[in-house]
Amino acid sequence: KLKFKERLEQERQNALLGGGLKRIERQHAKGSLSARERLELLFDDGTFHELDQLKAHRCHEFGMEQQKYPGDGIVTGYGKVNGRFVYAFSQDFTVLGGSLSATHAQKMVKIMEMAKRVGAPVIGLNDSGGARIQEGVDSLGGYADVFQANVDASGVIPQISVIMGPCAGGAVYSPAMTDFIFMVESTSYMFVTGPEVVKTVTNEDVTKEDLGGSKVHVSKSGVAHGDFENDVAALRAMRRLLDFLPSSNDKSTLPVKEVTDPGDRLVPQVARLVPDDPNTAYDMKDVIRQLVDNGDVFEIMPDMAQNIVTGFARFEGHTVGVIGNNPLTLAGCLDINASNKAARFVRFCDAFNIPLVTFVDVPGFLPGTEQEFGGIIRHGAKLLFAYAEASVPKVTVITRKAYGGAYDVMASKHLRADCNYAWPGAEIAVMGAKGAVNILYGGKGRNVDEDIAEYTDRFANPMVAAQRGFVDDIIDPQDTRKIICNDLKILRTKKMPEIPKKHSNIPL
Ligand code: COA
Repeated sequence: KLKFKERLEQERQNALLGGGLKRIERQHAKGSLSARERLELLFDDGTFHELDQLKAHRCHEFGMEQQKYPGDGIVTGYGKVNGRFVYAFSQDFTVLGGSLSATHAQKMVKIMEMAKRVGAPVIGLNDSGGARIQEGVDSLGGYADVFQANVDASGVIPQISVIMGPCAGGAVYSPAMTDFIFMVESTSYMFVTGPEVVKTVTNEDVTKEDLGGSKVHVSKSGVAHGDFENDVAALRAMRRLLDFLPSSNDKSTLPVKEVTDPGDRLVPQVARLVPDDPNTAYDMKDVIRQLVDNGDVFEIMPDMAQNIVTGFARFEGHTVGVIGNNPLTLAGCLDINASNKAARFVRFCDAFNIPLVTFVDVPGFLPGTEQEFGGIIRHGAKLLFAYAEASVPKVTVITRKAYGGAYDVMASKHLRADCNYAWPGAEIAVMGAKGAVNILYGGKGRNVDEDIAEYTDRFANPMVAAQRGFVDDIIDPQDTRKIICNDLKILRTKKMPEIPKKHSNIPL
């Protein structure tokens, strides 16, 4: 009989090996890393502190008493990412397919509770065959415990999911409760029911990749916020993302980086990026990159609803959430997907005290039956609601068009934005001059060209908005960075009184 110390050592060795070398090799053959290799890449060297390494399941069904692995298919703990504490779990596909037992779920809930107590983000590396079939309802209960913990932590600490293998059935709903979902190309998939069930129920033939691969979720369903070529690229990106985020909703945890790009830097090149012709497209991302610190932006949902750009960036070392209409796609119109994408981003930033900087070039809402039948009223309302509700510092710059209801929605002064500006070429109006003249005179004007010129002169500029105080000033584009940096500095002490309520009722 082994002495206790030797037995302990052996258990630890078993825990480190997970499902064994053969199965780890199988992971590698798929192009994936093992659960522990992933954690090593995520955390700063030597900082990972494991919890519950020896925790084991207590199932005696279907011969499970013979199949015990210390750690039970998930590695949990905390470590540092660029010097700041982060909790993580990493599901181990080599142990019973990373399937979720009651024990496995308890380990997840434990770190989520701890992360909430100390105010540190949780990052979940998902690679699991779903509910552990041998455990039945115990496993389902485990899932629900995790969902509840996700919801309890929502708005308290940032929660990030990385899907690095299968994630199917009930398993999808824990990531779905988190703030961001990222996927690994080719090796990860997410669906509620797999291809076999789909075939049986709807008679559709579809592959795993076409049903729930990363391309589907980053560009069609909007379930995921980004995808990466492989595990290494995904984990590196997570380290970069975490660098932008506060550790919790405590304002004091907002990261402040050393200022490596002067706040008073002039940006003469931005004016040249916007074409004189109001109908010629340009890439709002180019404008944003010129303005933020070192051109560094971490885009959220880059492949979805490209008519709006959302991402994290910095001004003078302080994180901001940047939102910009992008005329390059659908002329920058707001539609259902863009509204959903931006609304959720705005709410994340507001929950975590991240100021919002908005760049507006929006010709209105996208017309059409598809949009109306799809509920653009309800979805557009989310963005309007989110902006109006947000009490973080809000700075808005109109670079060109701000038409119609979309003008109101895009962090206008009326939604209590703190600082609003327009570039001299901005057009703040109910609609474009041509459309307006058509409605005003119904083709019975004196001279259509003259009428358009008159309307343009009176309304297709930012003067009236400035006279009303709807924009605080009309600014020289080259001063934009300097002005934003100054405003964000004074707004750091912003306080908004809150009327007590249980919660608002955002249109969903
Ligand atoms: N419960 C218990 N064990 C599971 C499991 C689960 N949900 N999912 C996978 N496993 C085990 C397998 O039995 C296998 O064990 P082994 O290594 O001892 O042979 C191991 O995990 C790897 O699974 P395998 O099927 O060989 O891997 P794969 O890459 O070919 O397929 C899945 C992966 C996820 C597609 C497949 O395992 C699967 O369909 N699992 C069941 C999914 C499910 O219906 N879950 C319940 C719904 S929530």
